[in-house]
Amino acid sequence: MEPLNYFDNAATSFPKPKECGDEVLRYLNTVGGPYGRSFYDRALEVSRTVEDCRELTAAEIGAADADRLIFTSNATHAINIVLKGLNLEGREVWISALEHNAVTRPLKFLEDKGLLRIKILPSKAGGLVDTEALSKTDLSGAGLVVVCHVSNVTGLIQPVADIKRAIYNTGAAVPLMIDAAQSAGHLEIRTDQWDIDYAAFTGHKGLLGPTGTGGLYIKDPSVLEPLINGGTGSRSDSWETPGFLPDRFEAGTPNIAGLFGLAGALKNKPVPRHSREDFLSLLDAVKALCGISVYAAPDAGLQSEVFSITAESAQVSPSDVGMKLYRDYGIETRLGLHCAPLAHRTIGTFPEGTVRISVSPYHSPGDFERLLNALENTASTIRA
Ligand code: ALA
Repeated sequence: MEPLNYFDNAATSFPKPKECGDEVLRYLNTVGGPYGRSFYDRALEVSRTVEDCRELTAAEIGAADADRLIFTSNATHAINIVLKGLNLEGREVWISALEHNAVTRPLKFLEDKGLLRIKILPSKAGGLVDTEALSKTDLSGAGLVVVCHVSNVTGLIQPVADIKRAIYNTGAAVPLMIDAAQSAGHLEIRTDQWDIDYAAFTGHKGLLGPTGTGGLYIKDPSVLEPLINGGTGSRSDSWETPGFLPDRFEAGTPNIAGLFGLAGALKNKPVPRHSREDFLSLLDAVKALCGISVYAAPDAGLQSEVFSITAESAQVSPSDVGMKLYRDYGIETRLGLHCAPLAHRTIGTFPEGTVRISVSPYHSPGDFERLLNALENTASTIRA
């Protein structure tokens, strides 16, 4: 395989398994037909593939009941379904200090309408939720807790199971939503075992599927209103959207081509070309570079395969570093605030942001070596 200089997998993964694109084309060029709305073989094949995809994604997030998993166009869509579909009127919504705009913007929209209040969960340095402090927090006014499972800026993995336990220990029955945009496909997610109430994820990052795919696991659908209503191909005699899943939350024709691609990707996951040790050695080597500051999880056990850097010198901006990496070495990264201004405030990199490096299973140790050389050379130019 060609050297892989694409280190922007937290934005969207590349490359994808070949079968992802093959399946998108197979649907568009050969299979065709609607989902859940007709009886002929073509339509039945579509419905089978979409339901297959539902089973595969539910298994990816550790949810035994695939019927509770609905497809959305991305994680933002899934998060909006919960924040706008739950009755949070007059309640507090507690969020981690590392949330993405996908969570903070819909919440701010609702807060500005006077509907709810945003509160930040107690946290330690770097935004790690302080579960001990959380278990002593008064959550009696809370309607929901939202935690970004893996930070898209530092790669910090939040201890979701401990957070759920801490919420329980407060004595308040508050549901927990995880934003699994950066964890699905990268880490083992145990939705059932951790007793997660809502898990929002996207298909185009760690799951290696096409853009425009994503989903939401809903433990108790009865407490959630749909964000949109419309045709489902079921109970068509009624003006009311059906109450059963997935139809209640899947009005309109879904992204069938995308779901074919997602199923294709999930059935053909690549064998990772690098080991966990390879990644951690890369991170350690970057941390050891003179002139570069690294923003990562406080320890390796909480580290996903994303981290950020800046130049130690305040005279050199993240865009100086990122543009140099690209122009001189072809290394593709994402610069700035990564749609996560709260996370950058928490780690002290607001408003300039950072250069983010996010890894794919397709990266080989050789790719890491080239990245490290580029960073080494860039660091020495910055120092000069
Ligand atoms: N939220 C995505 C990122 O972190 C798009 O780049």
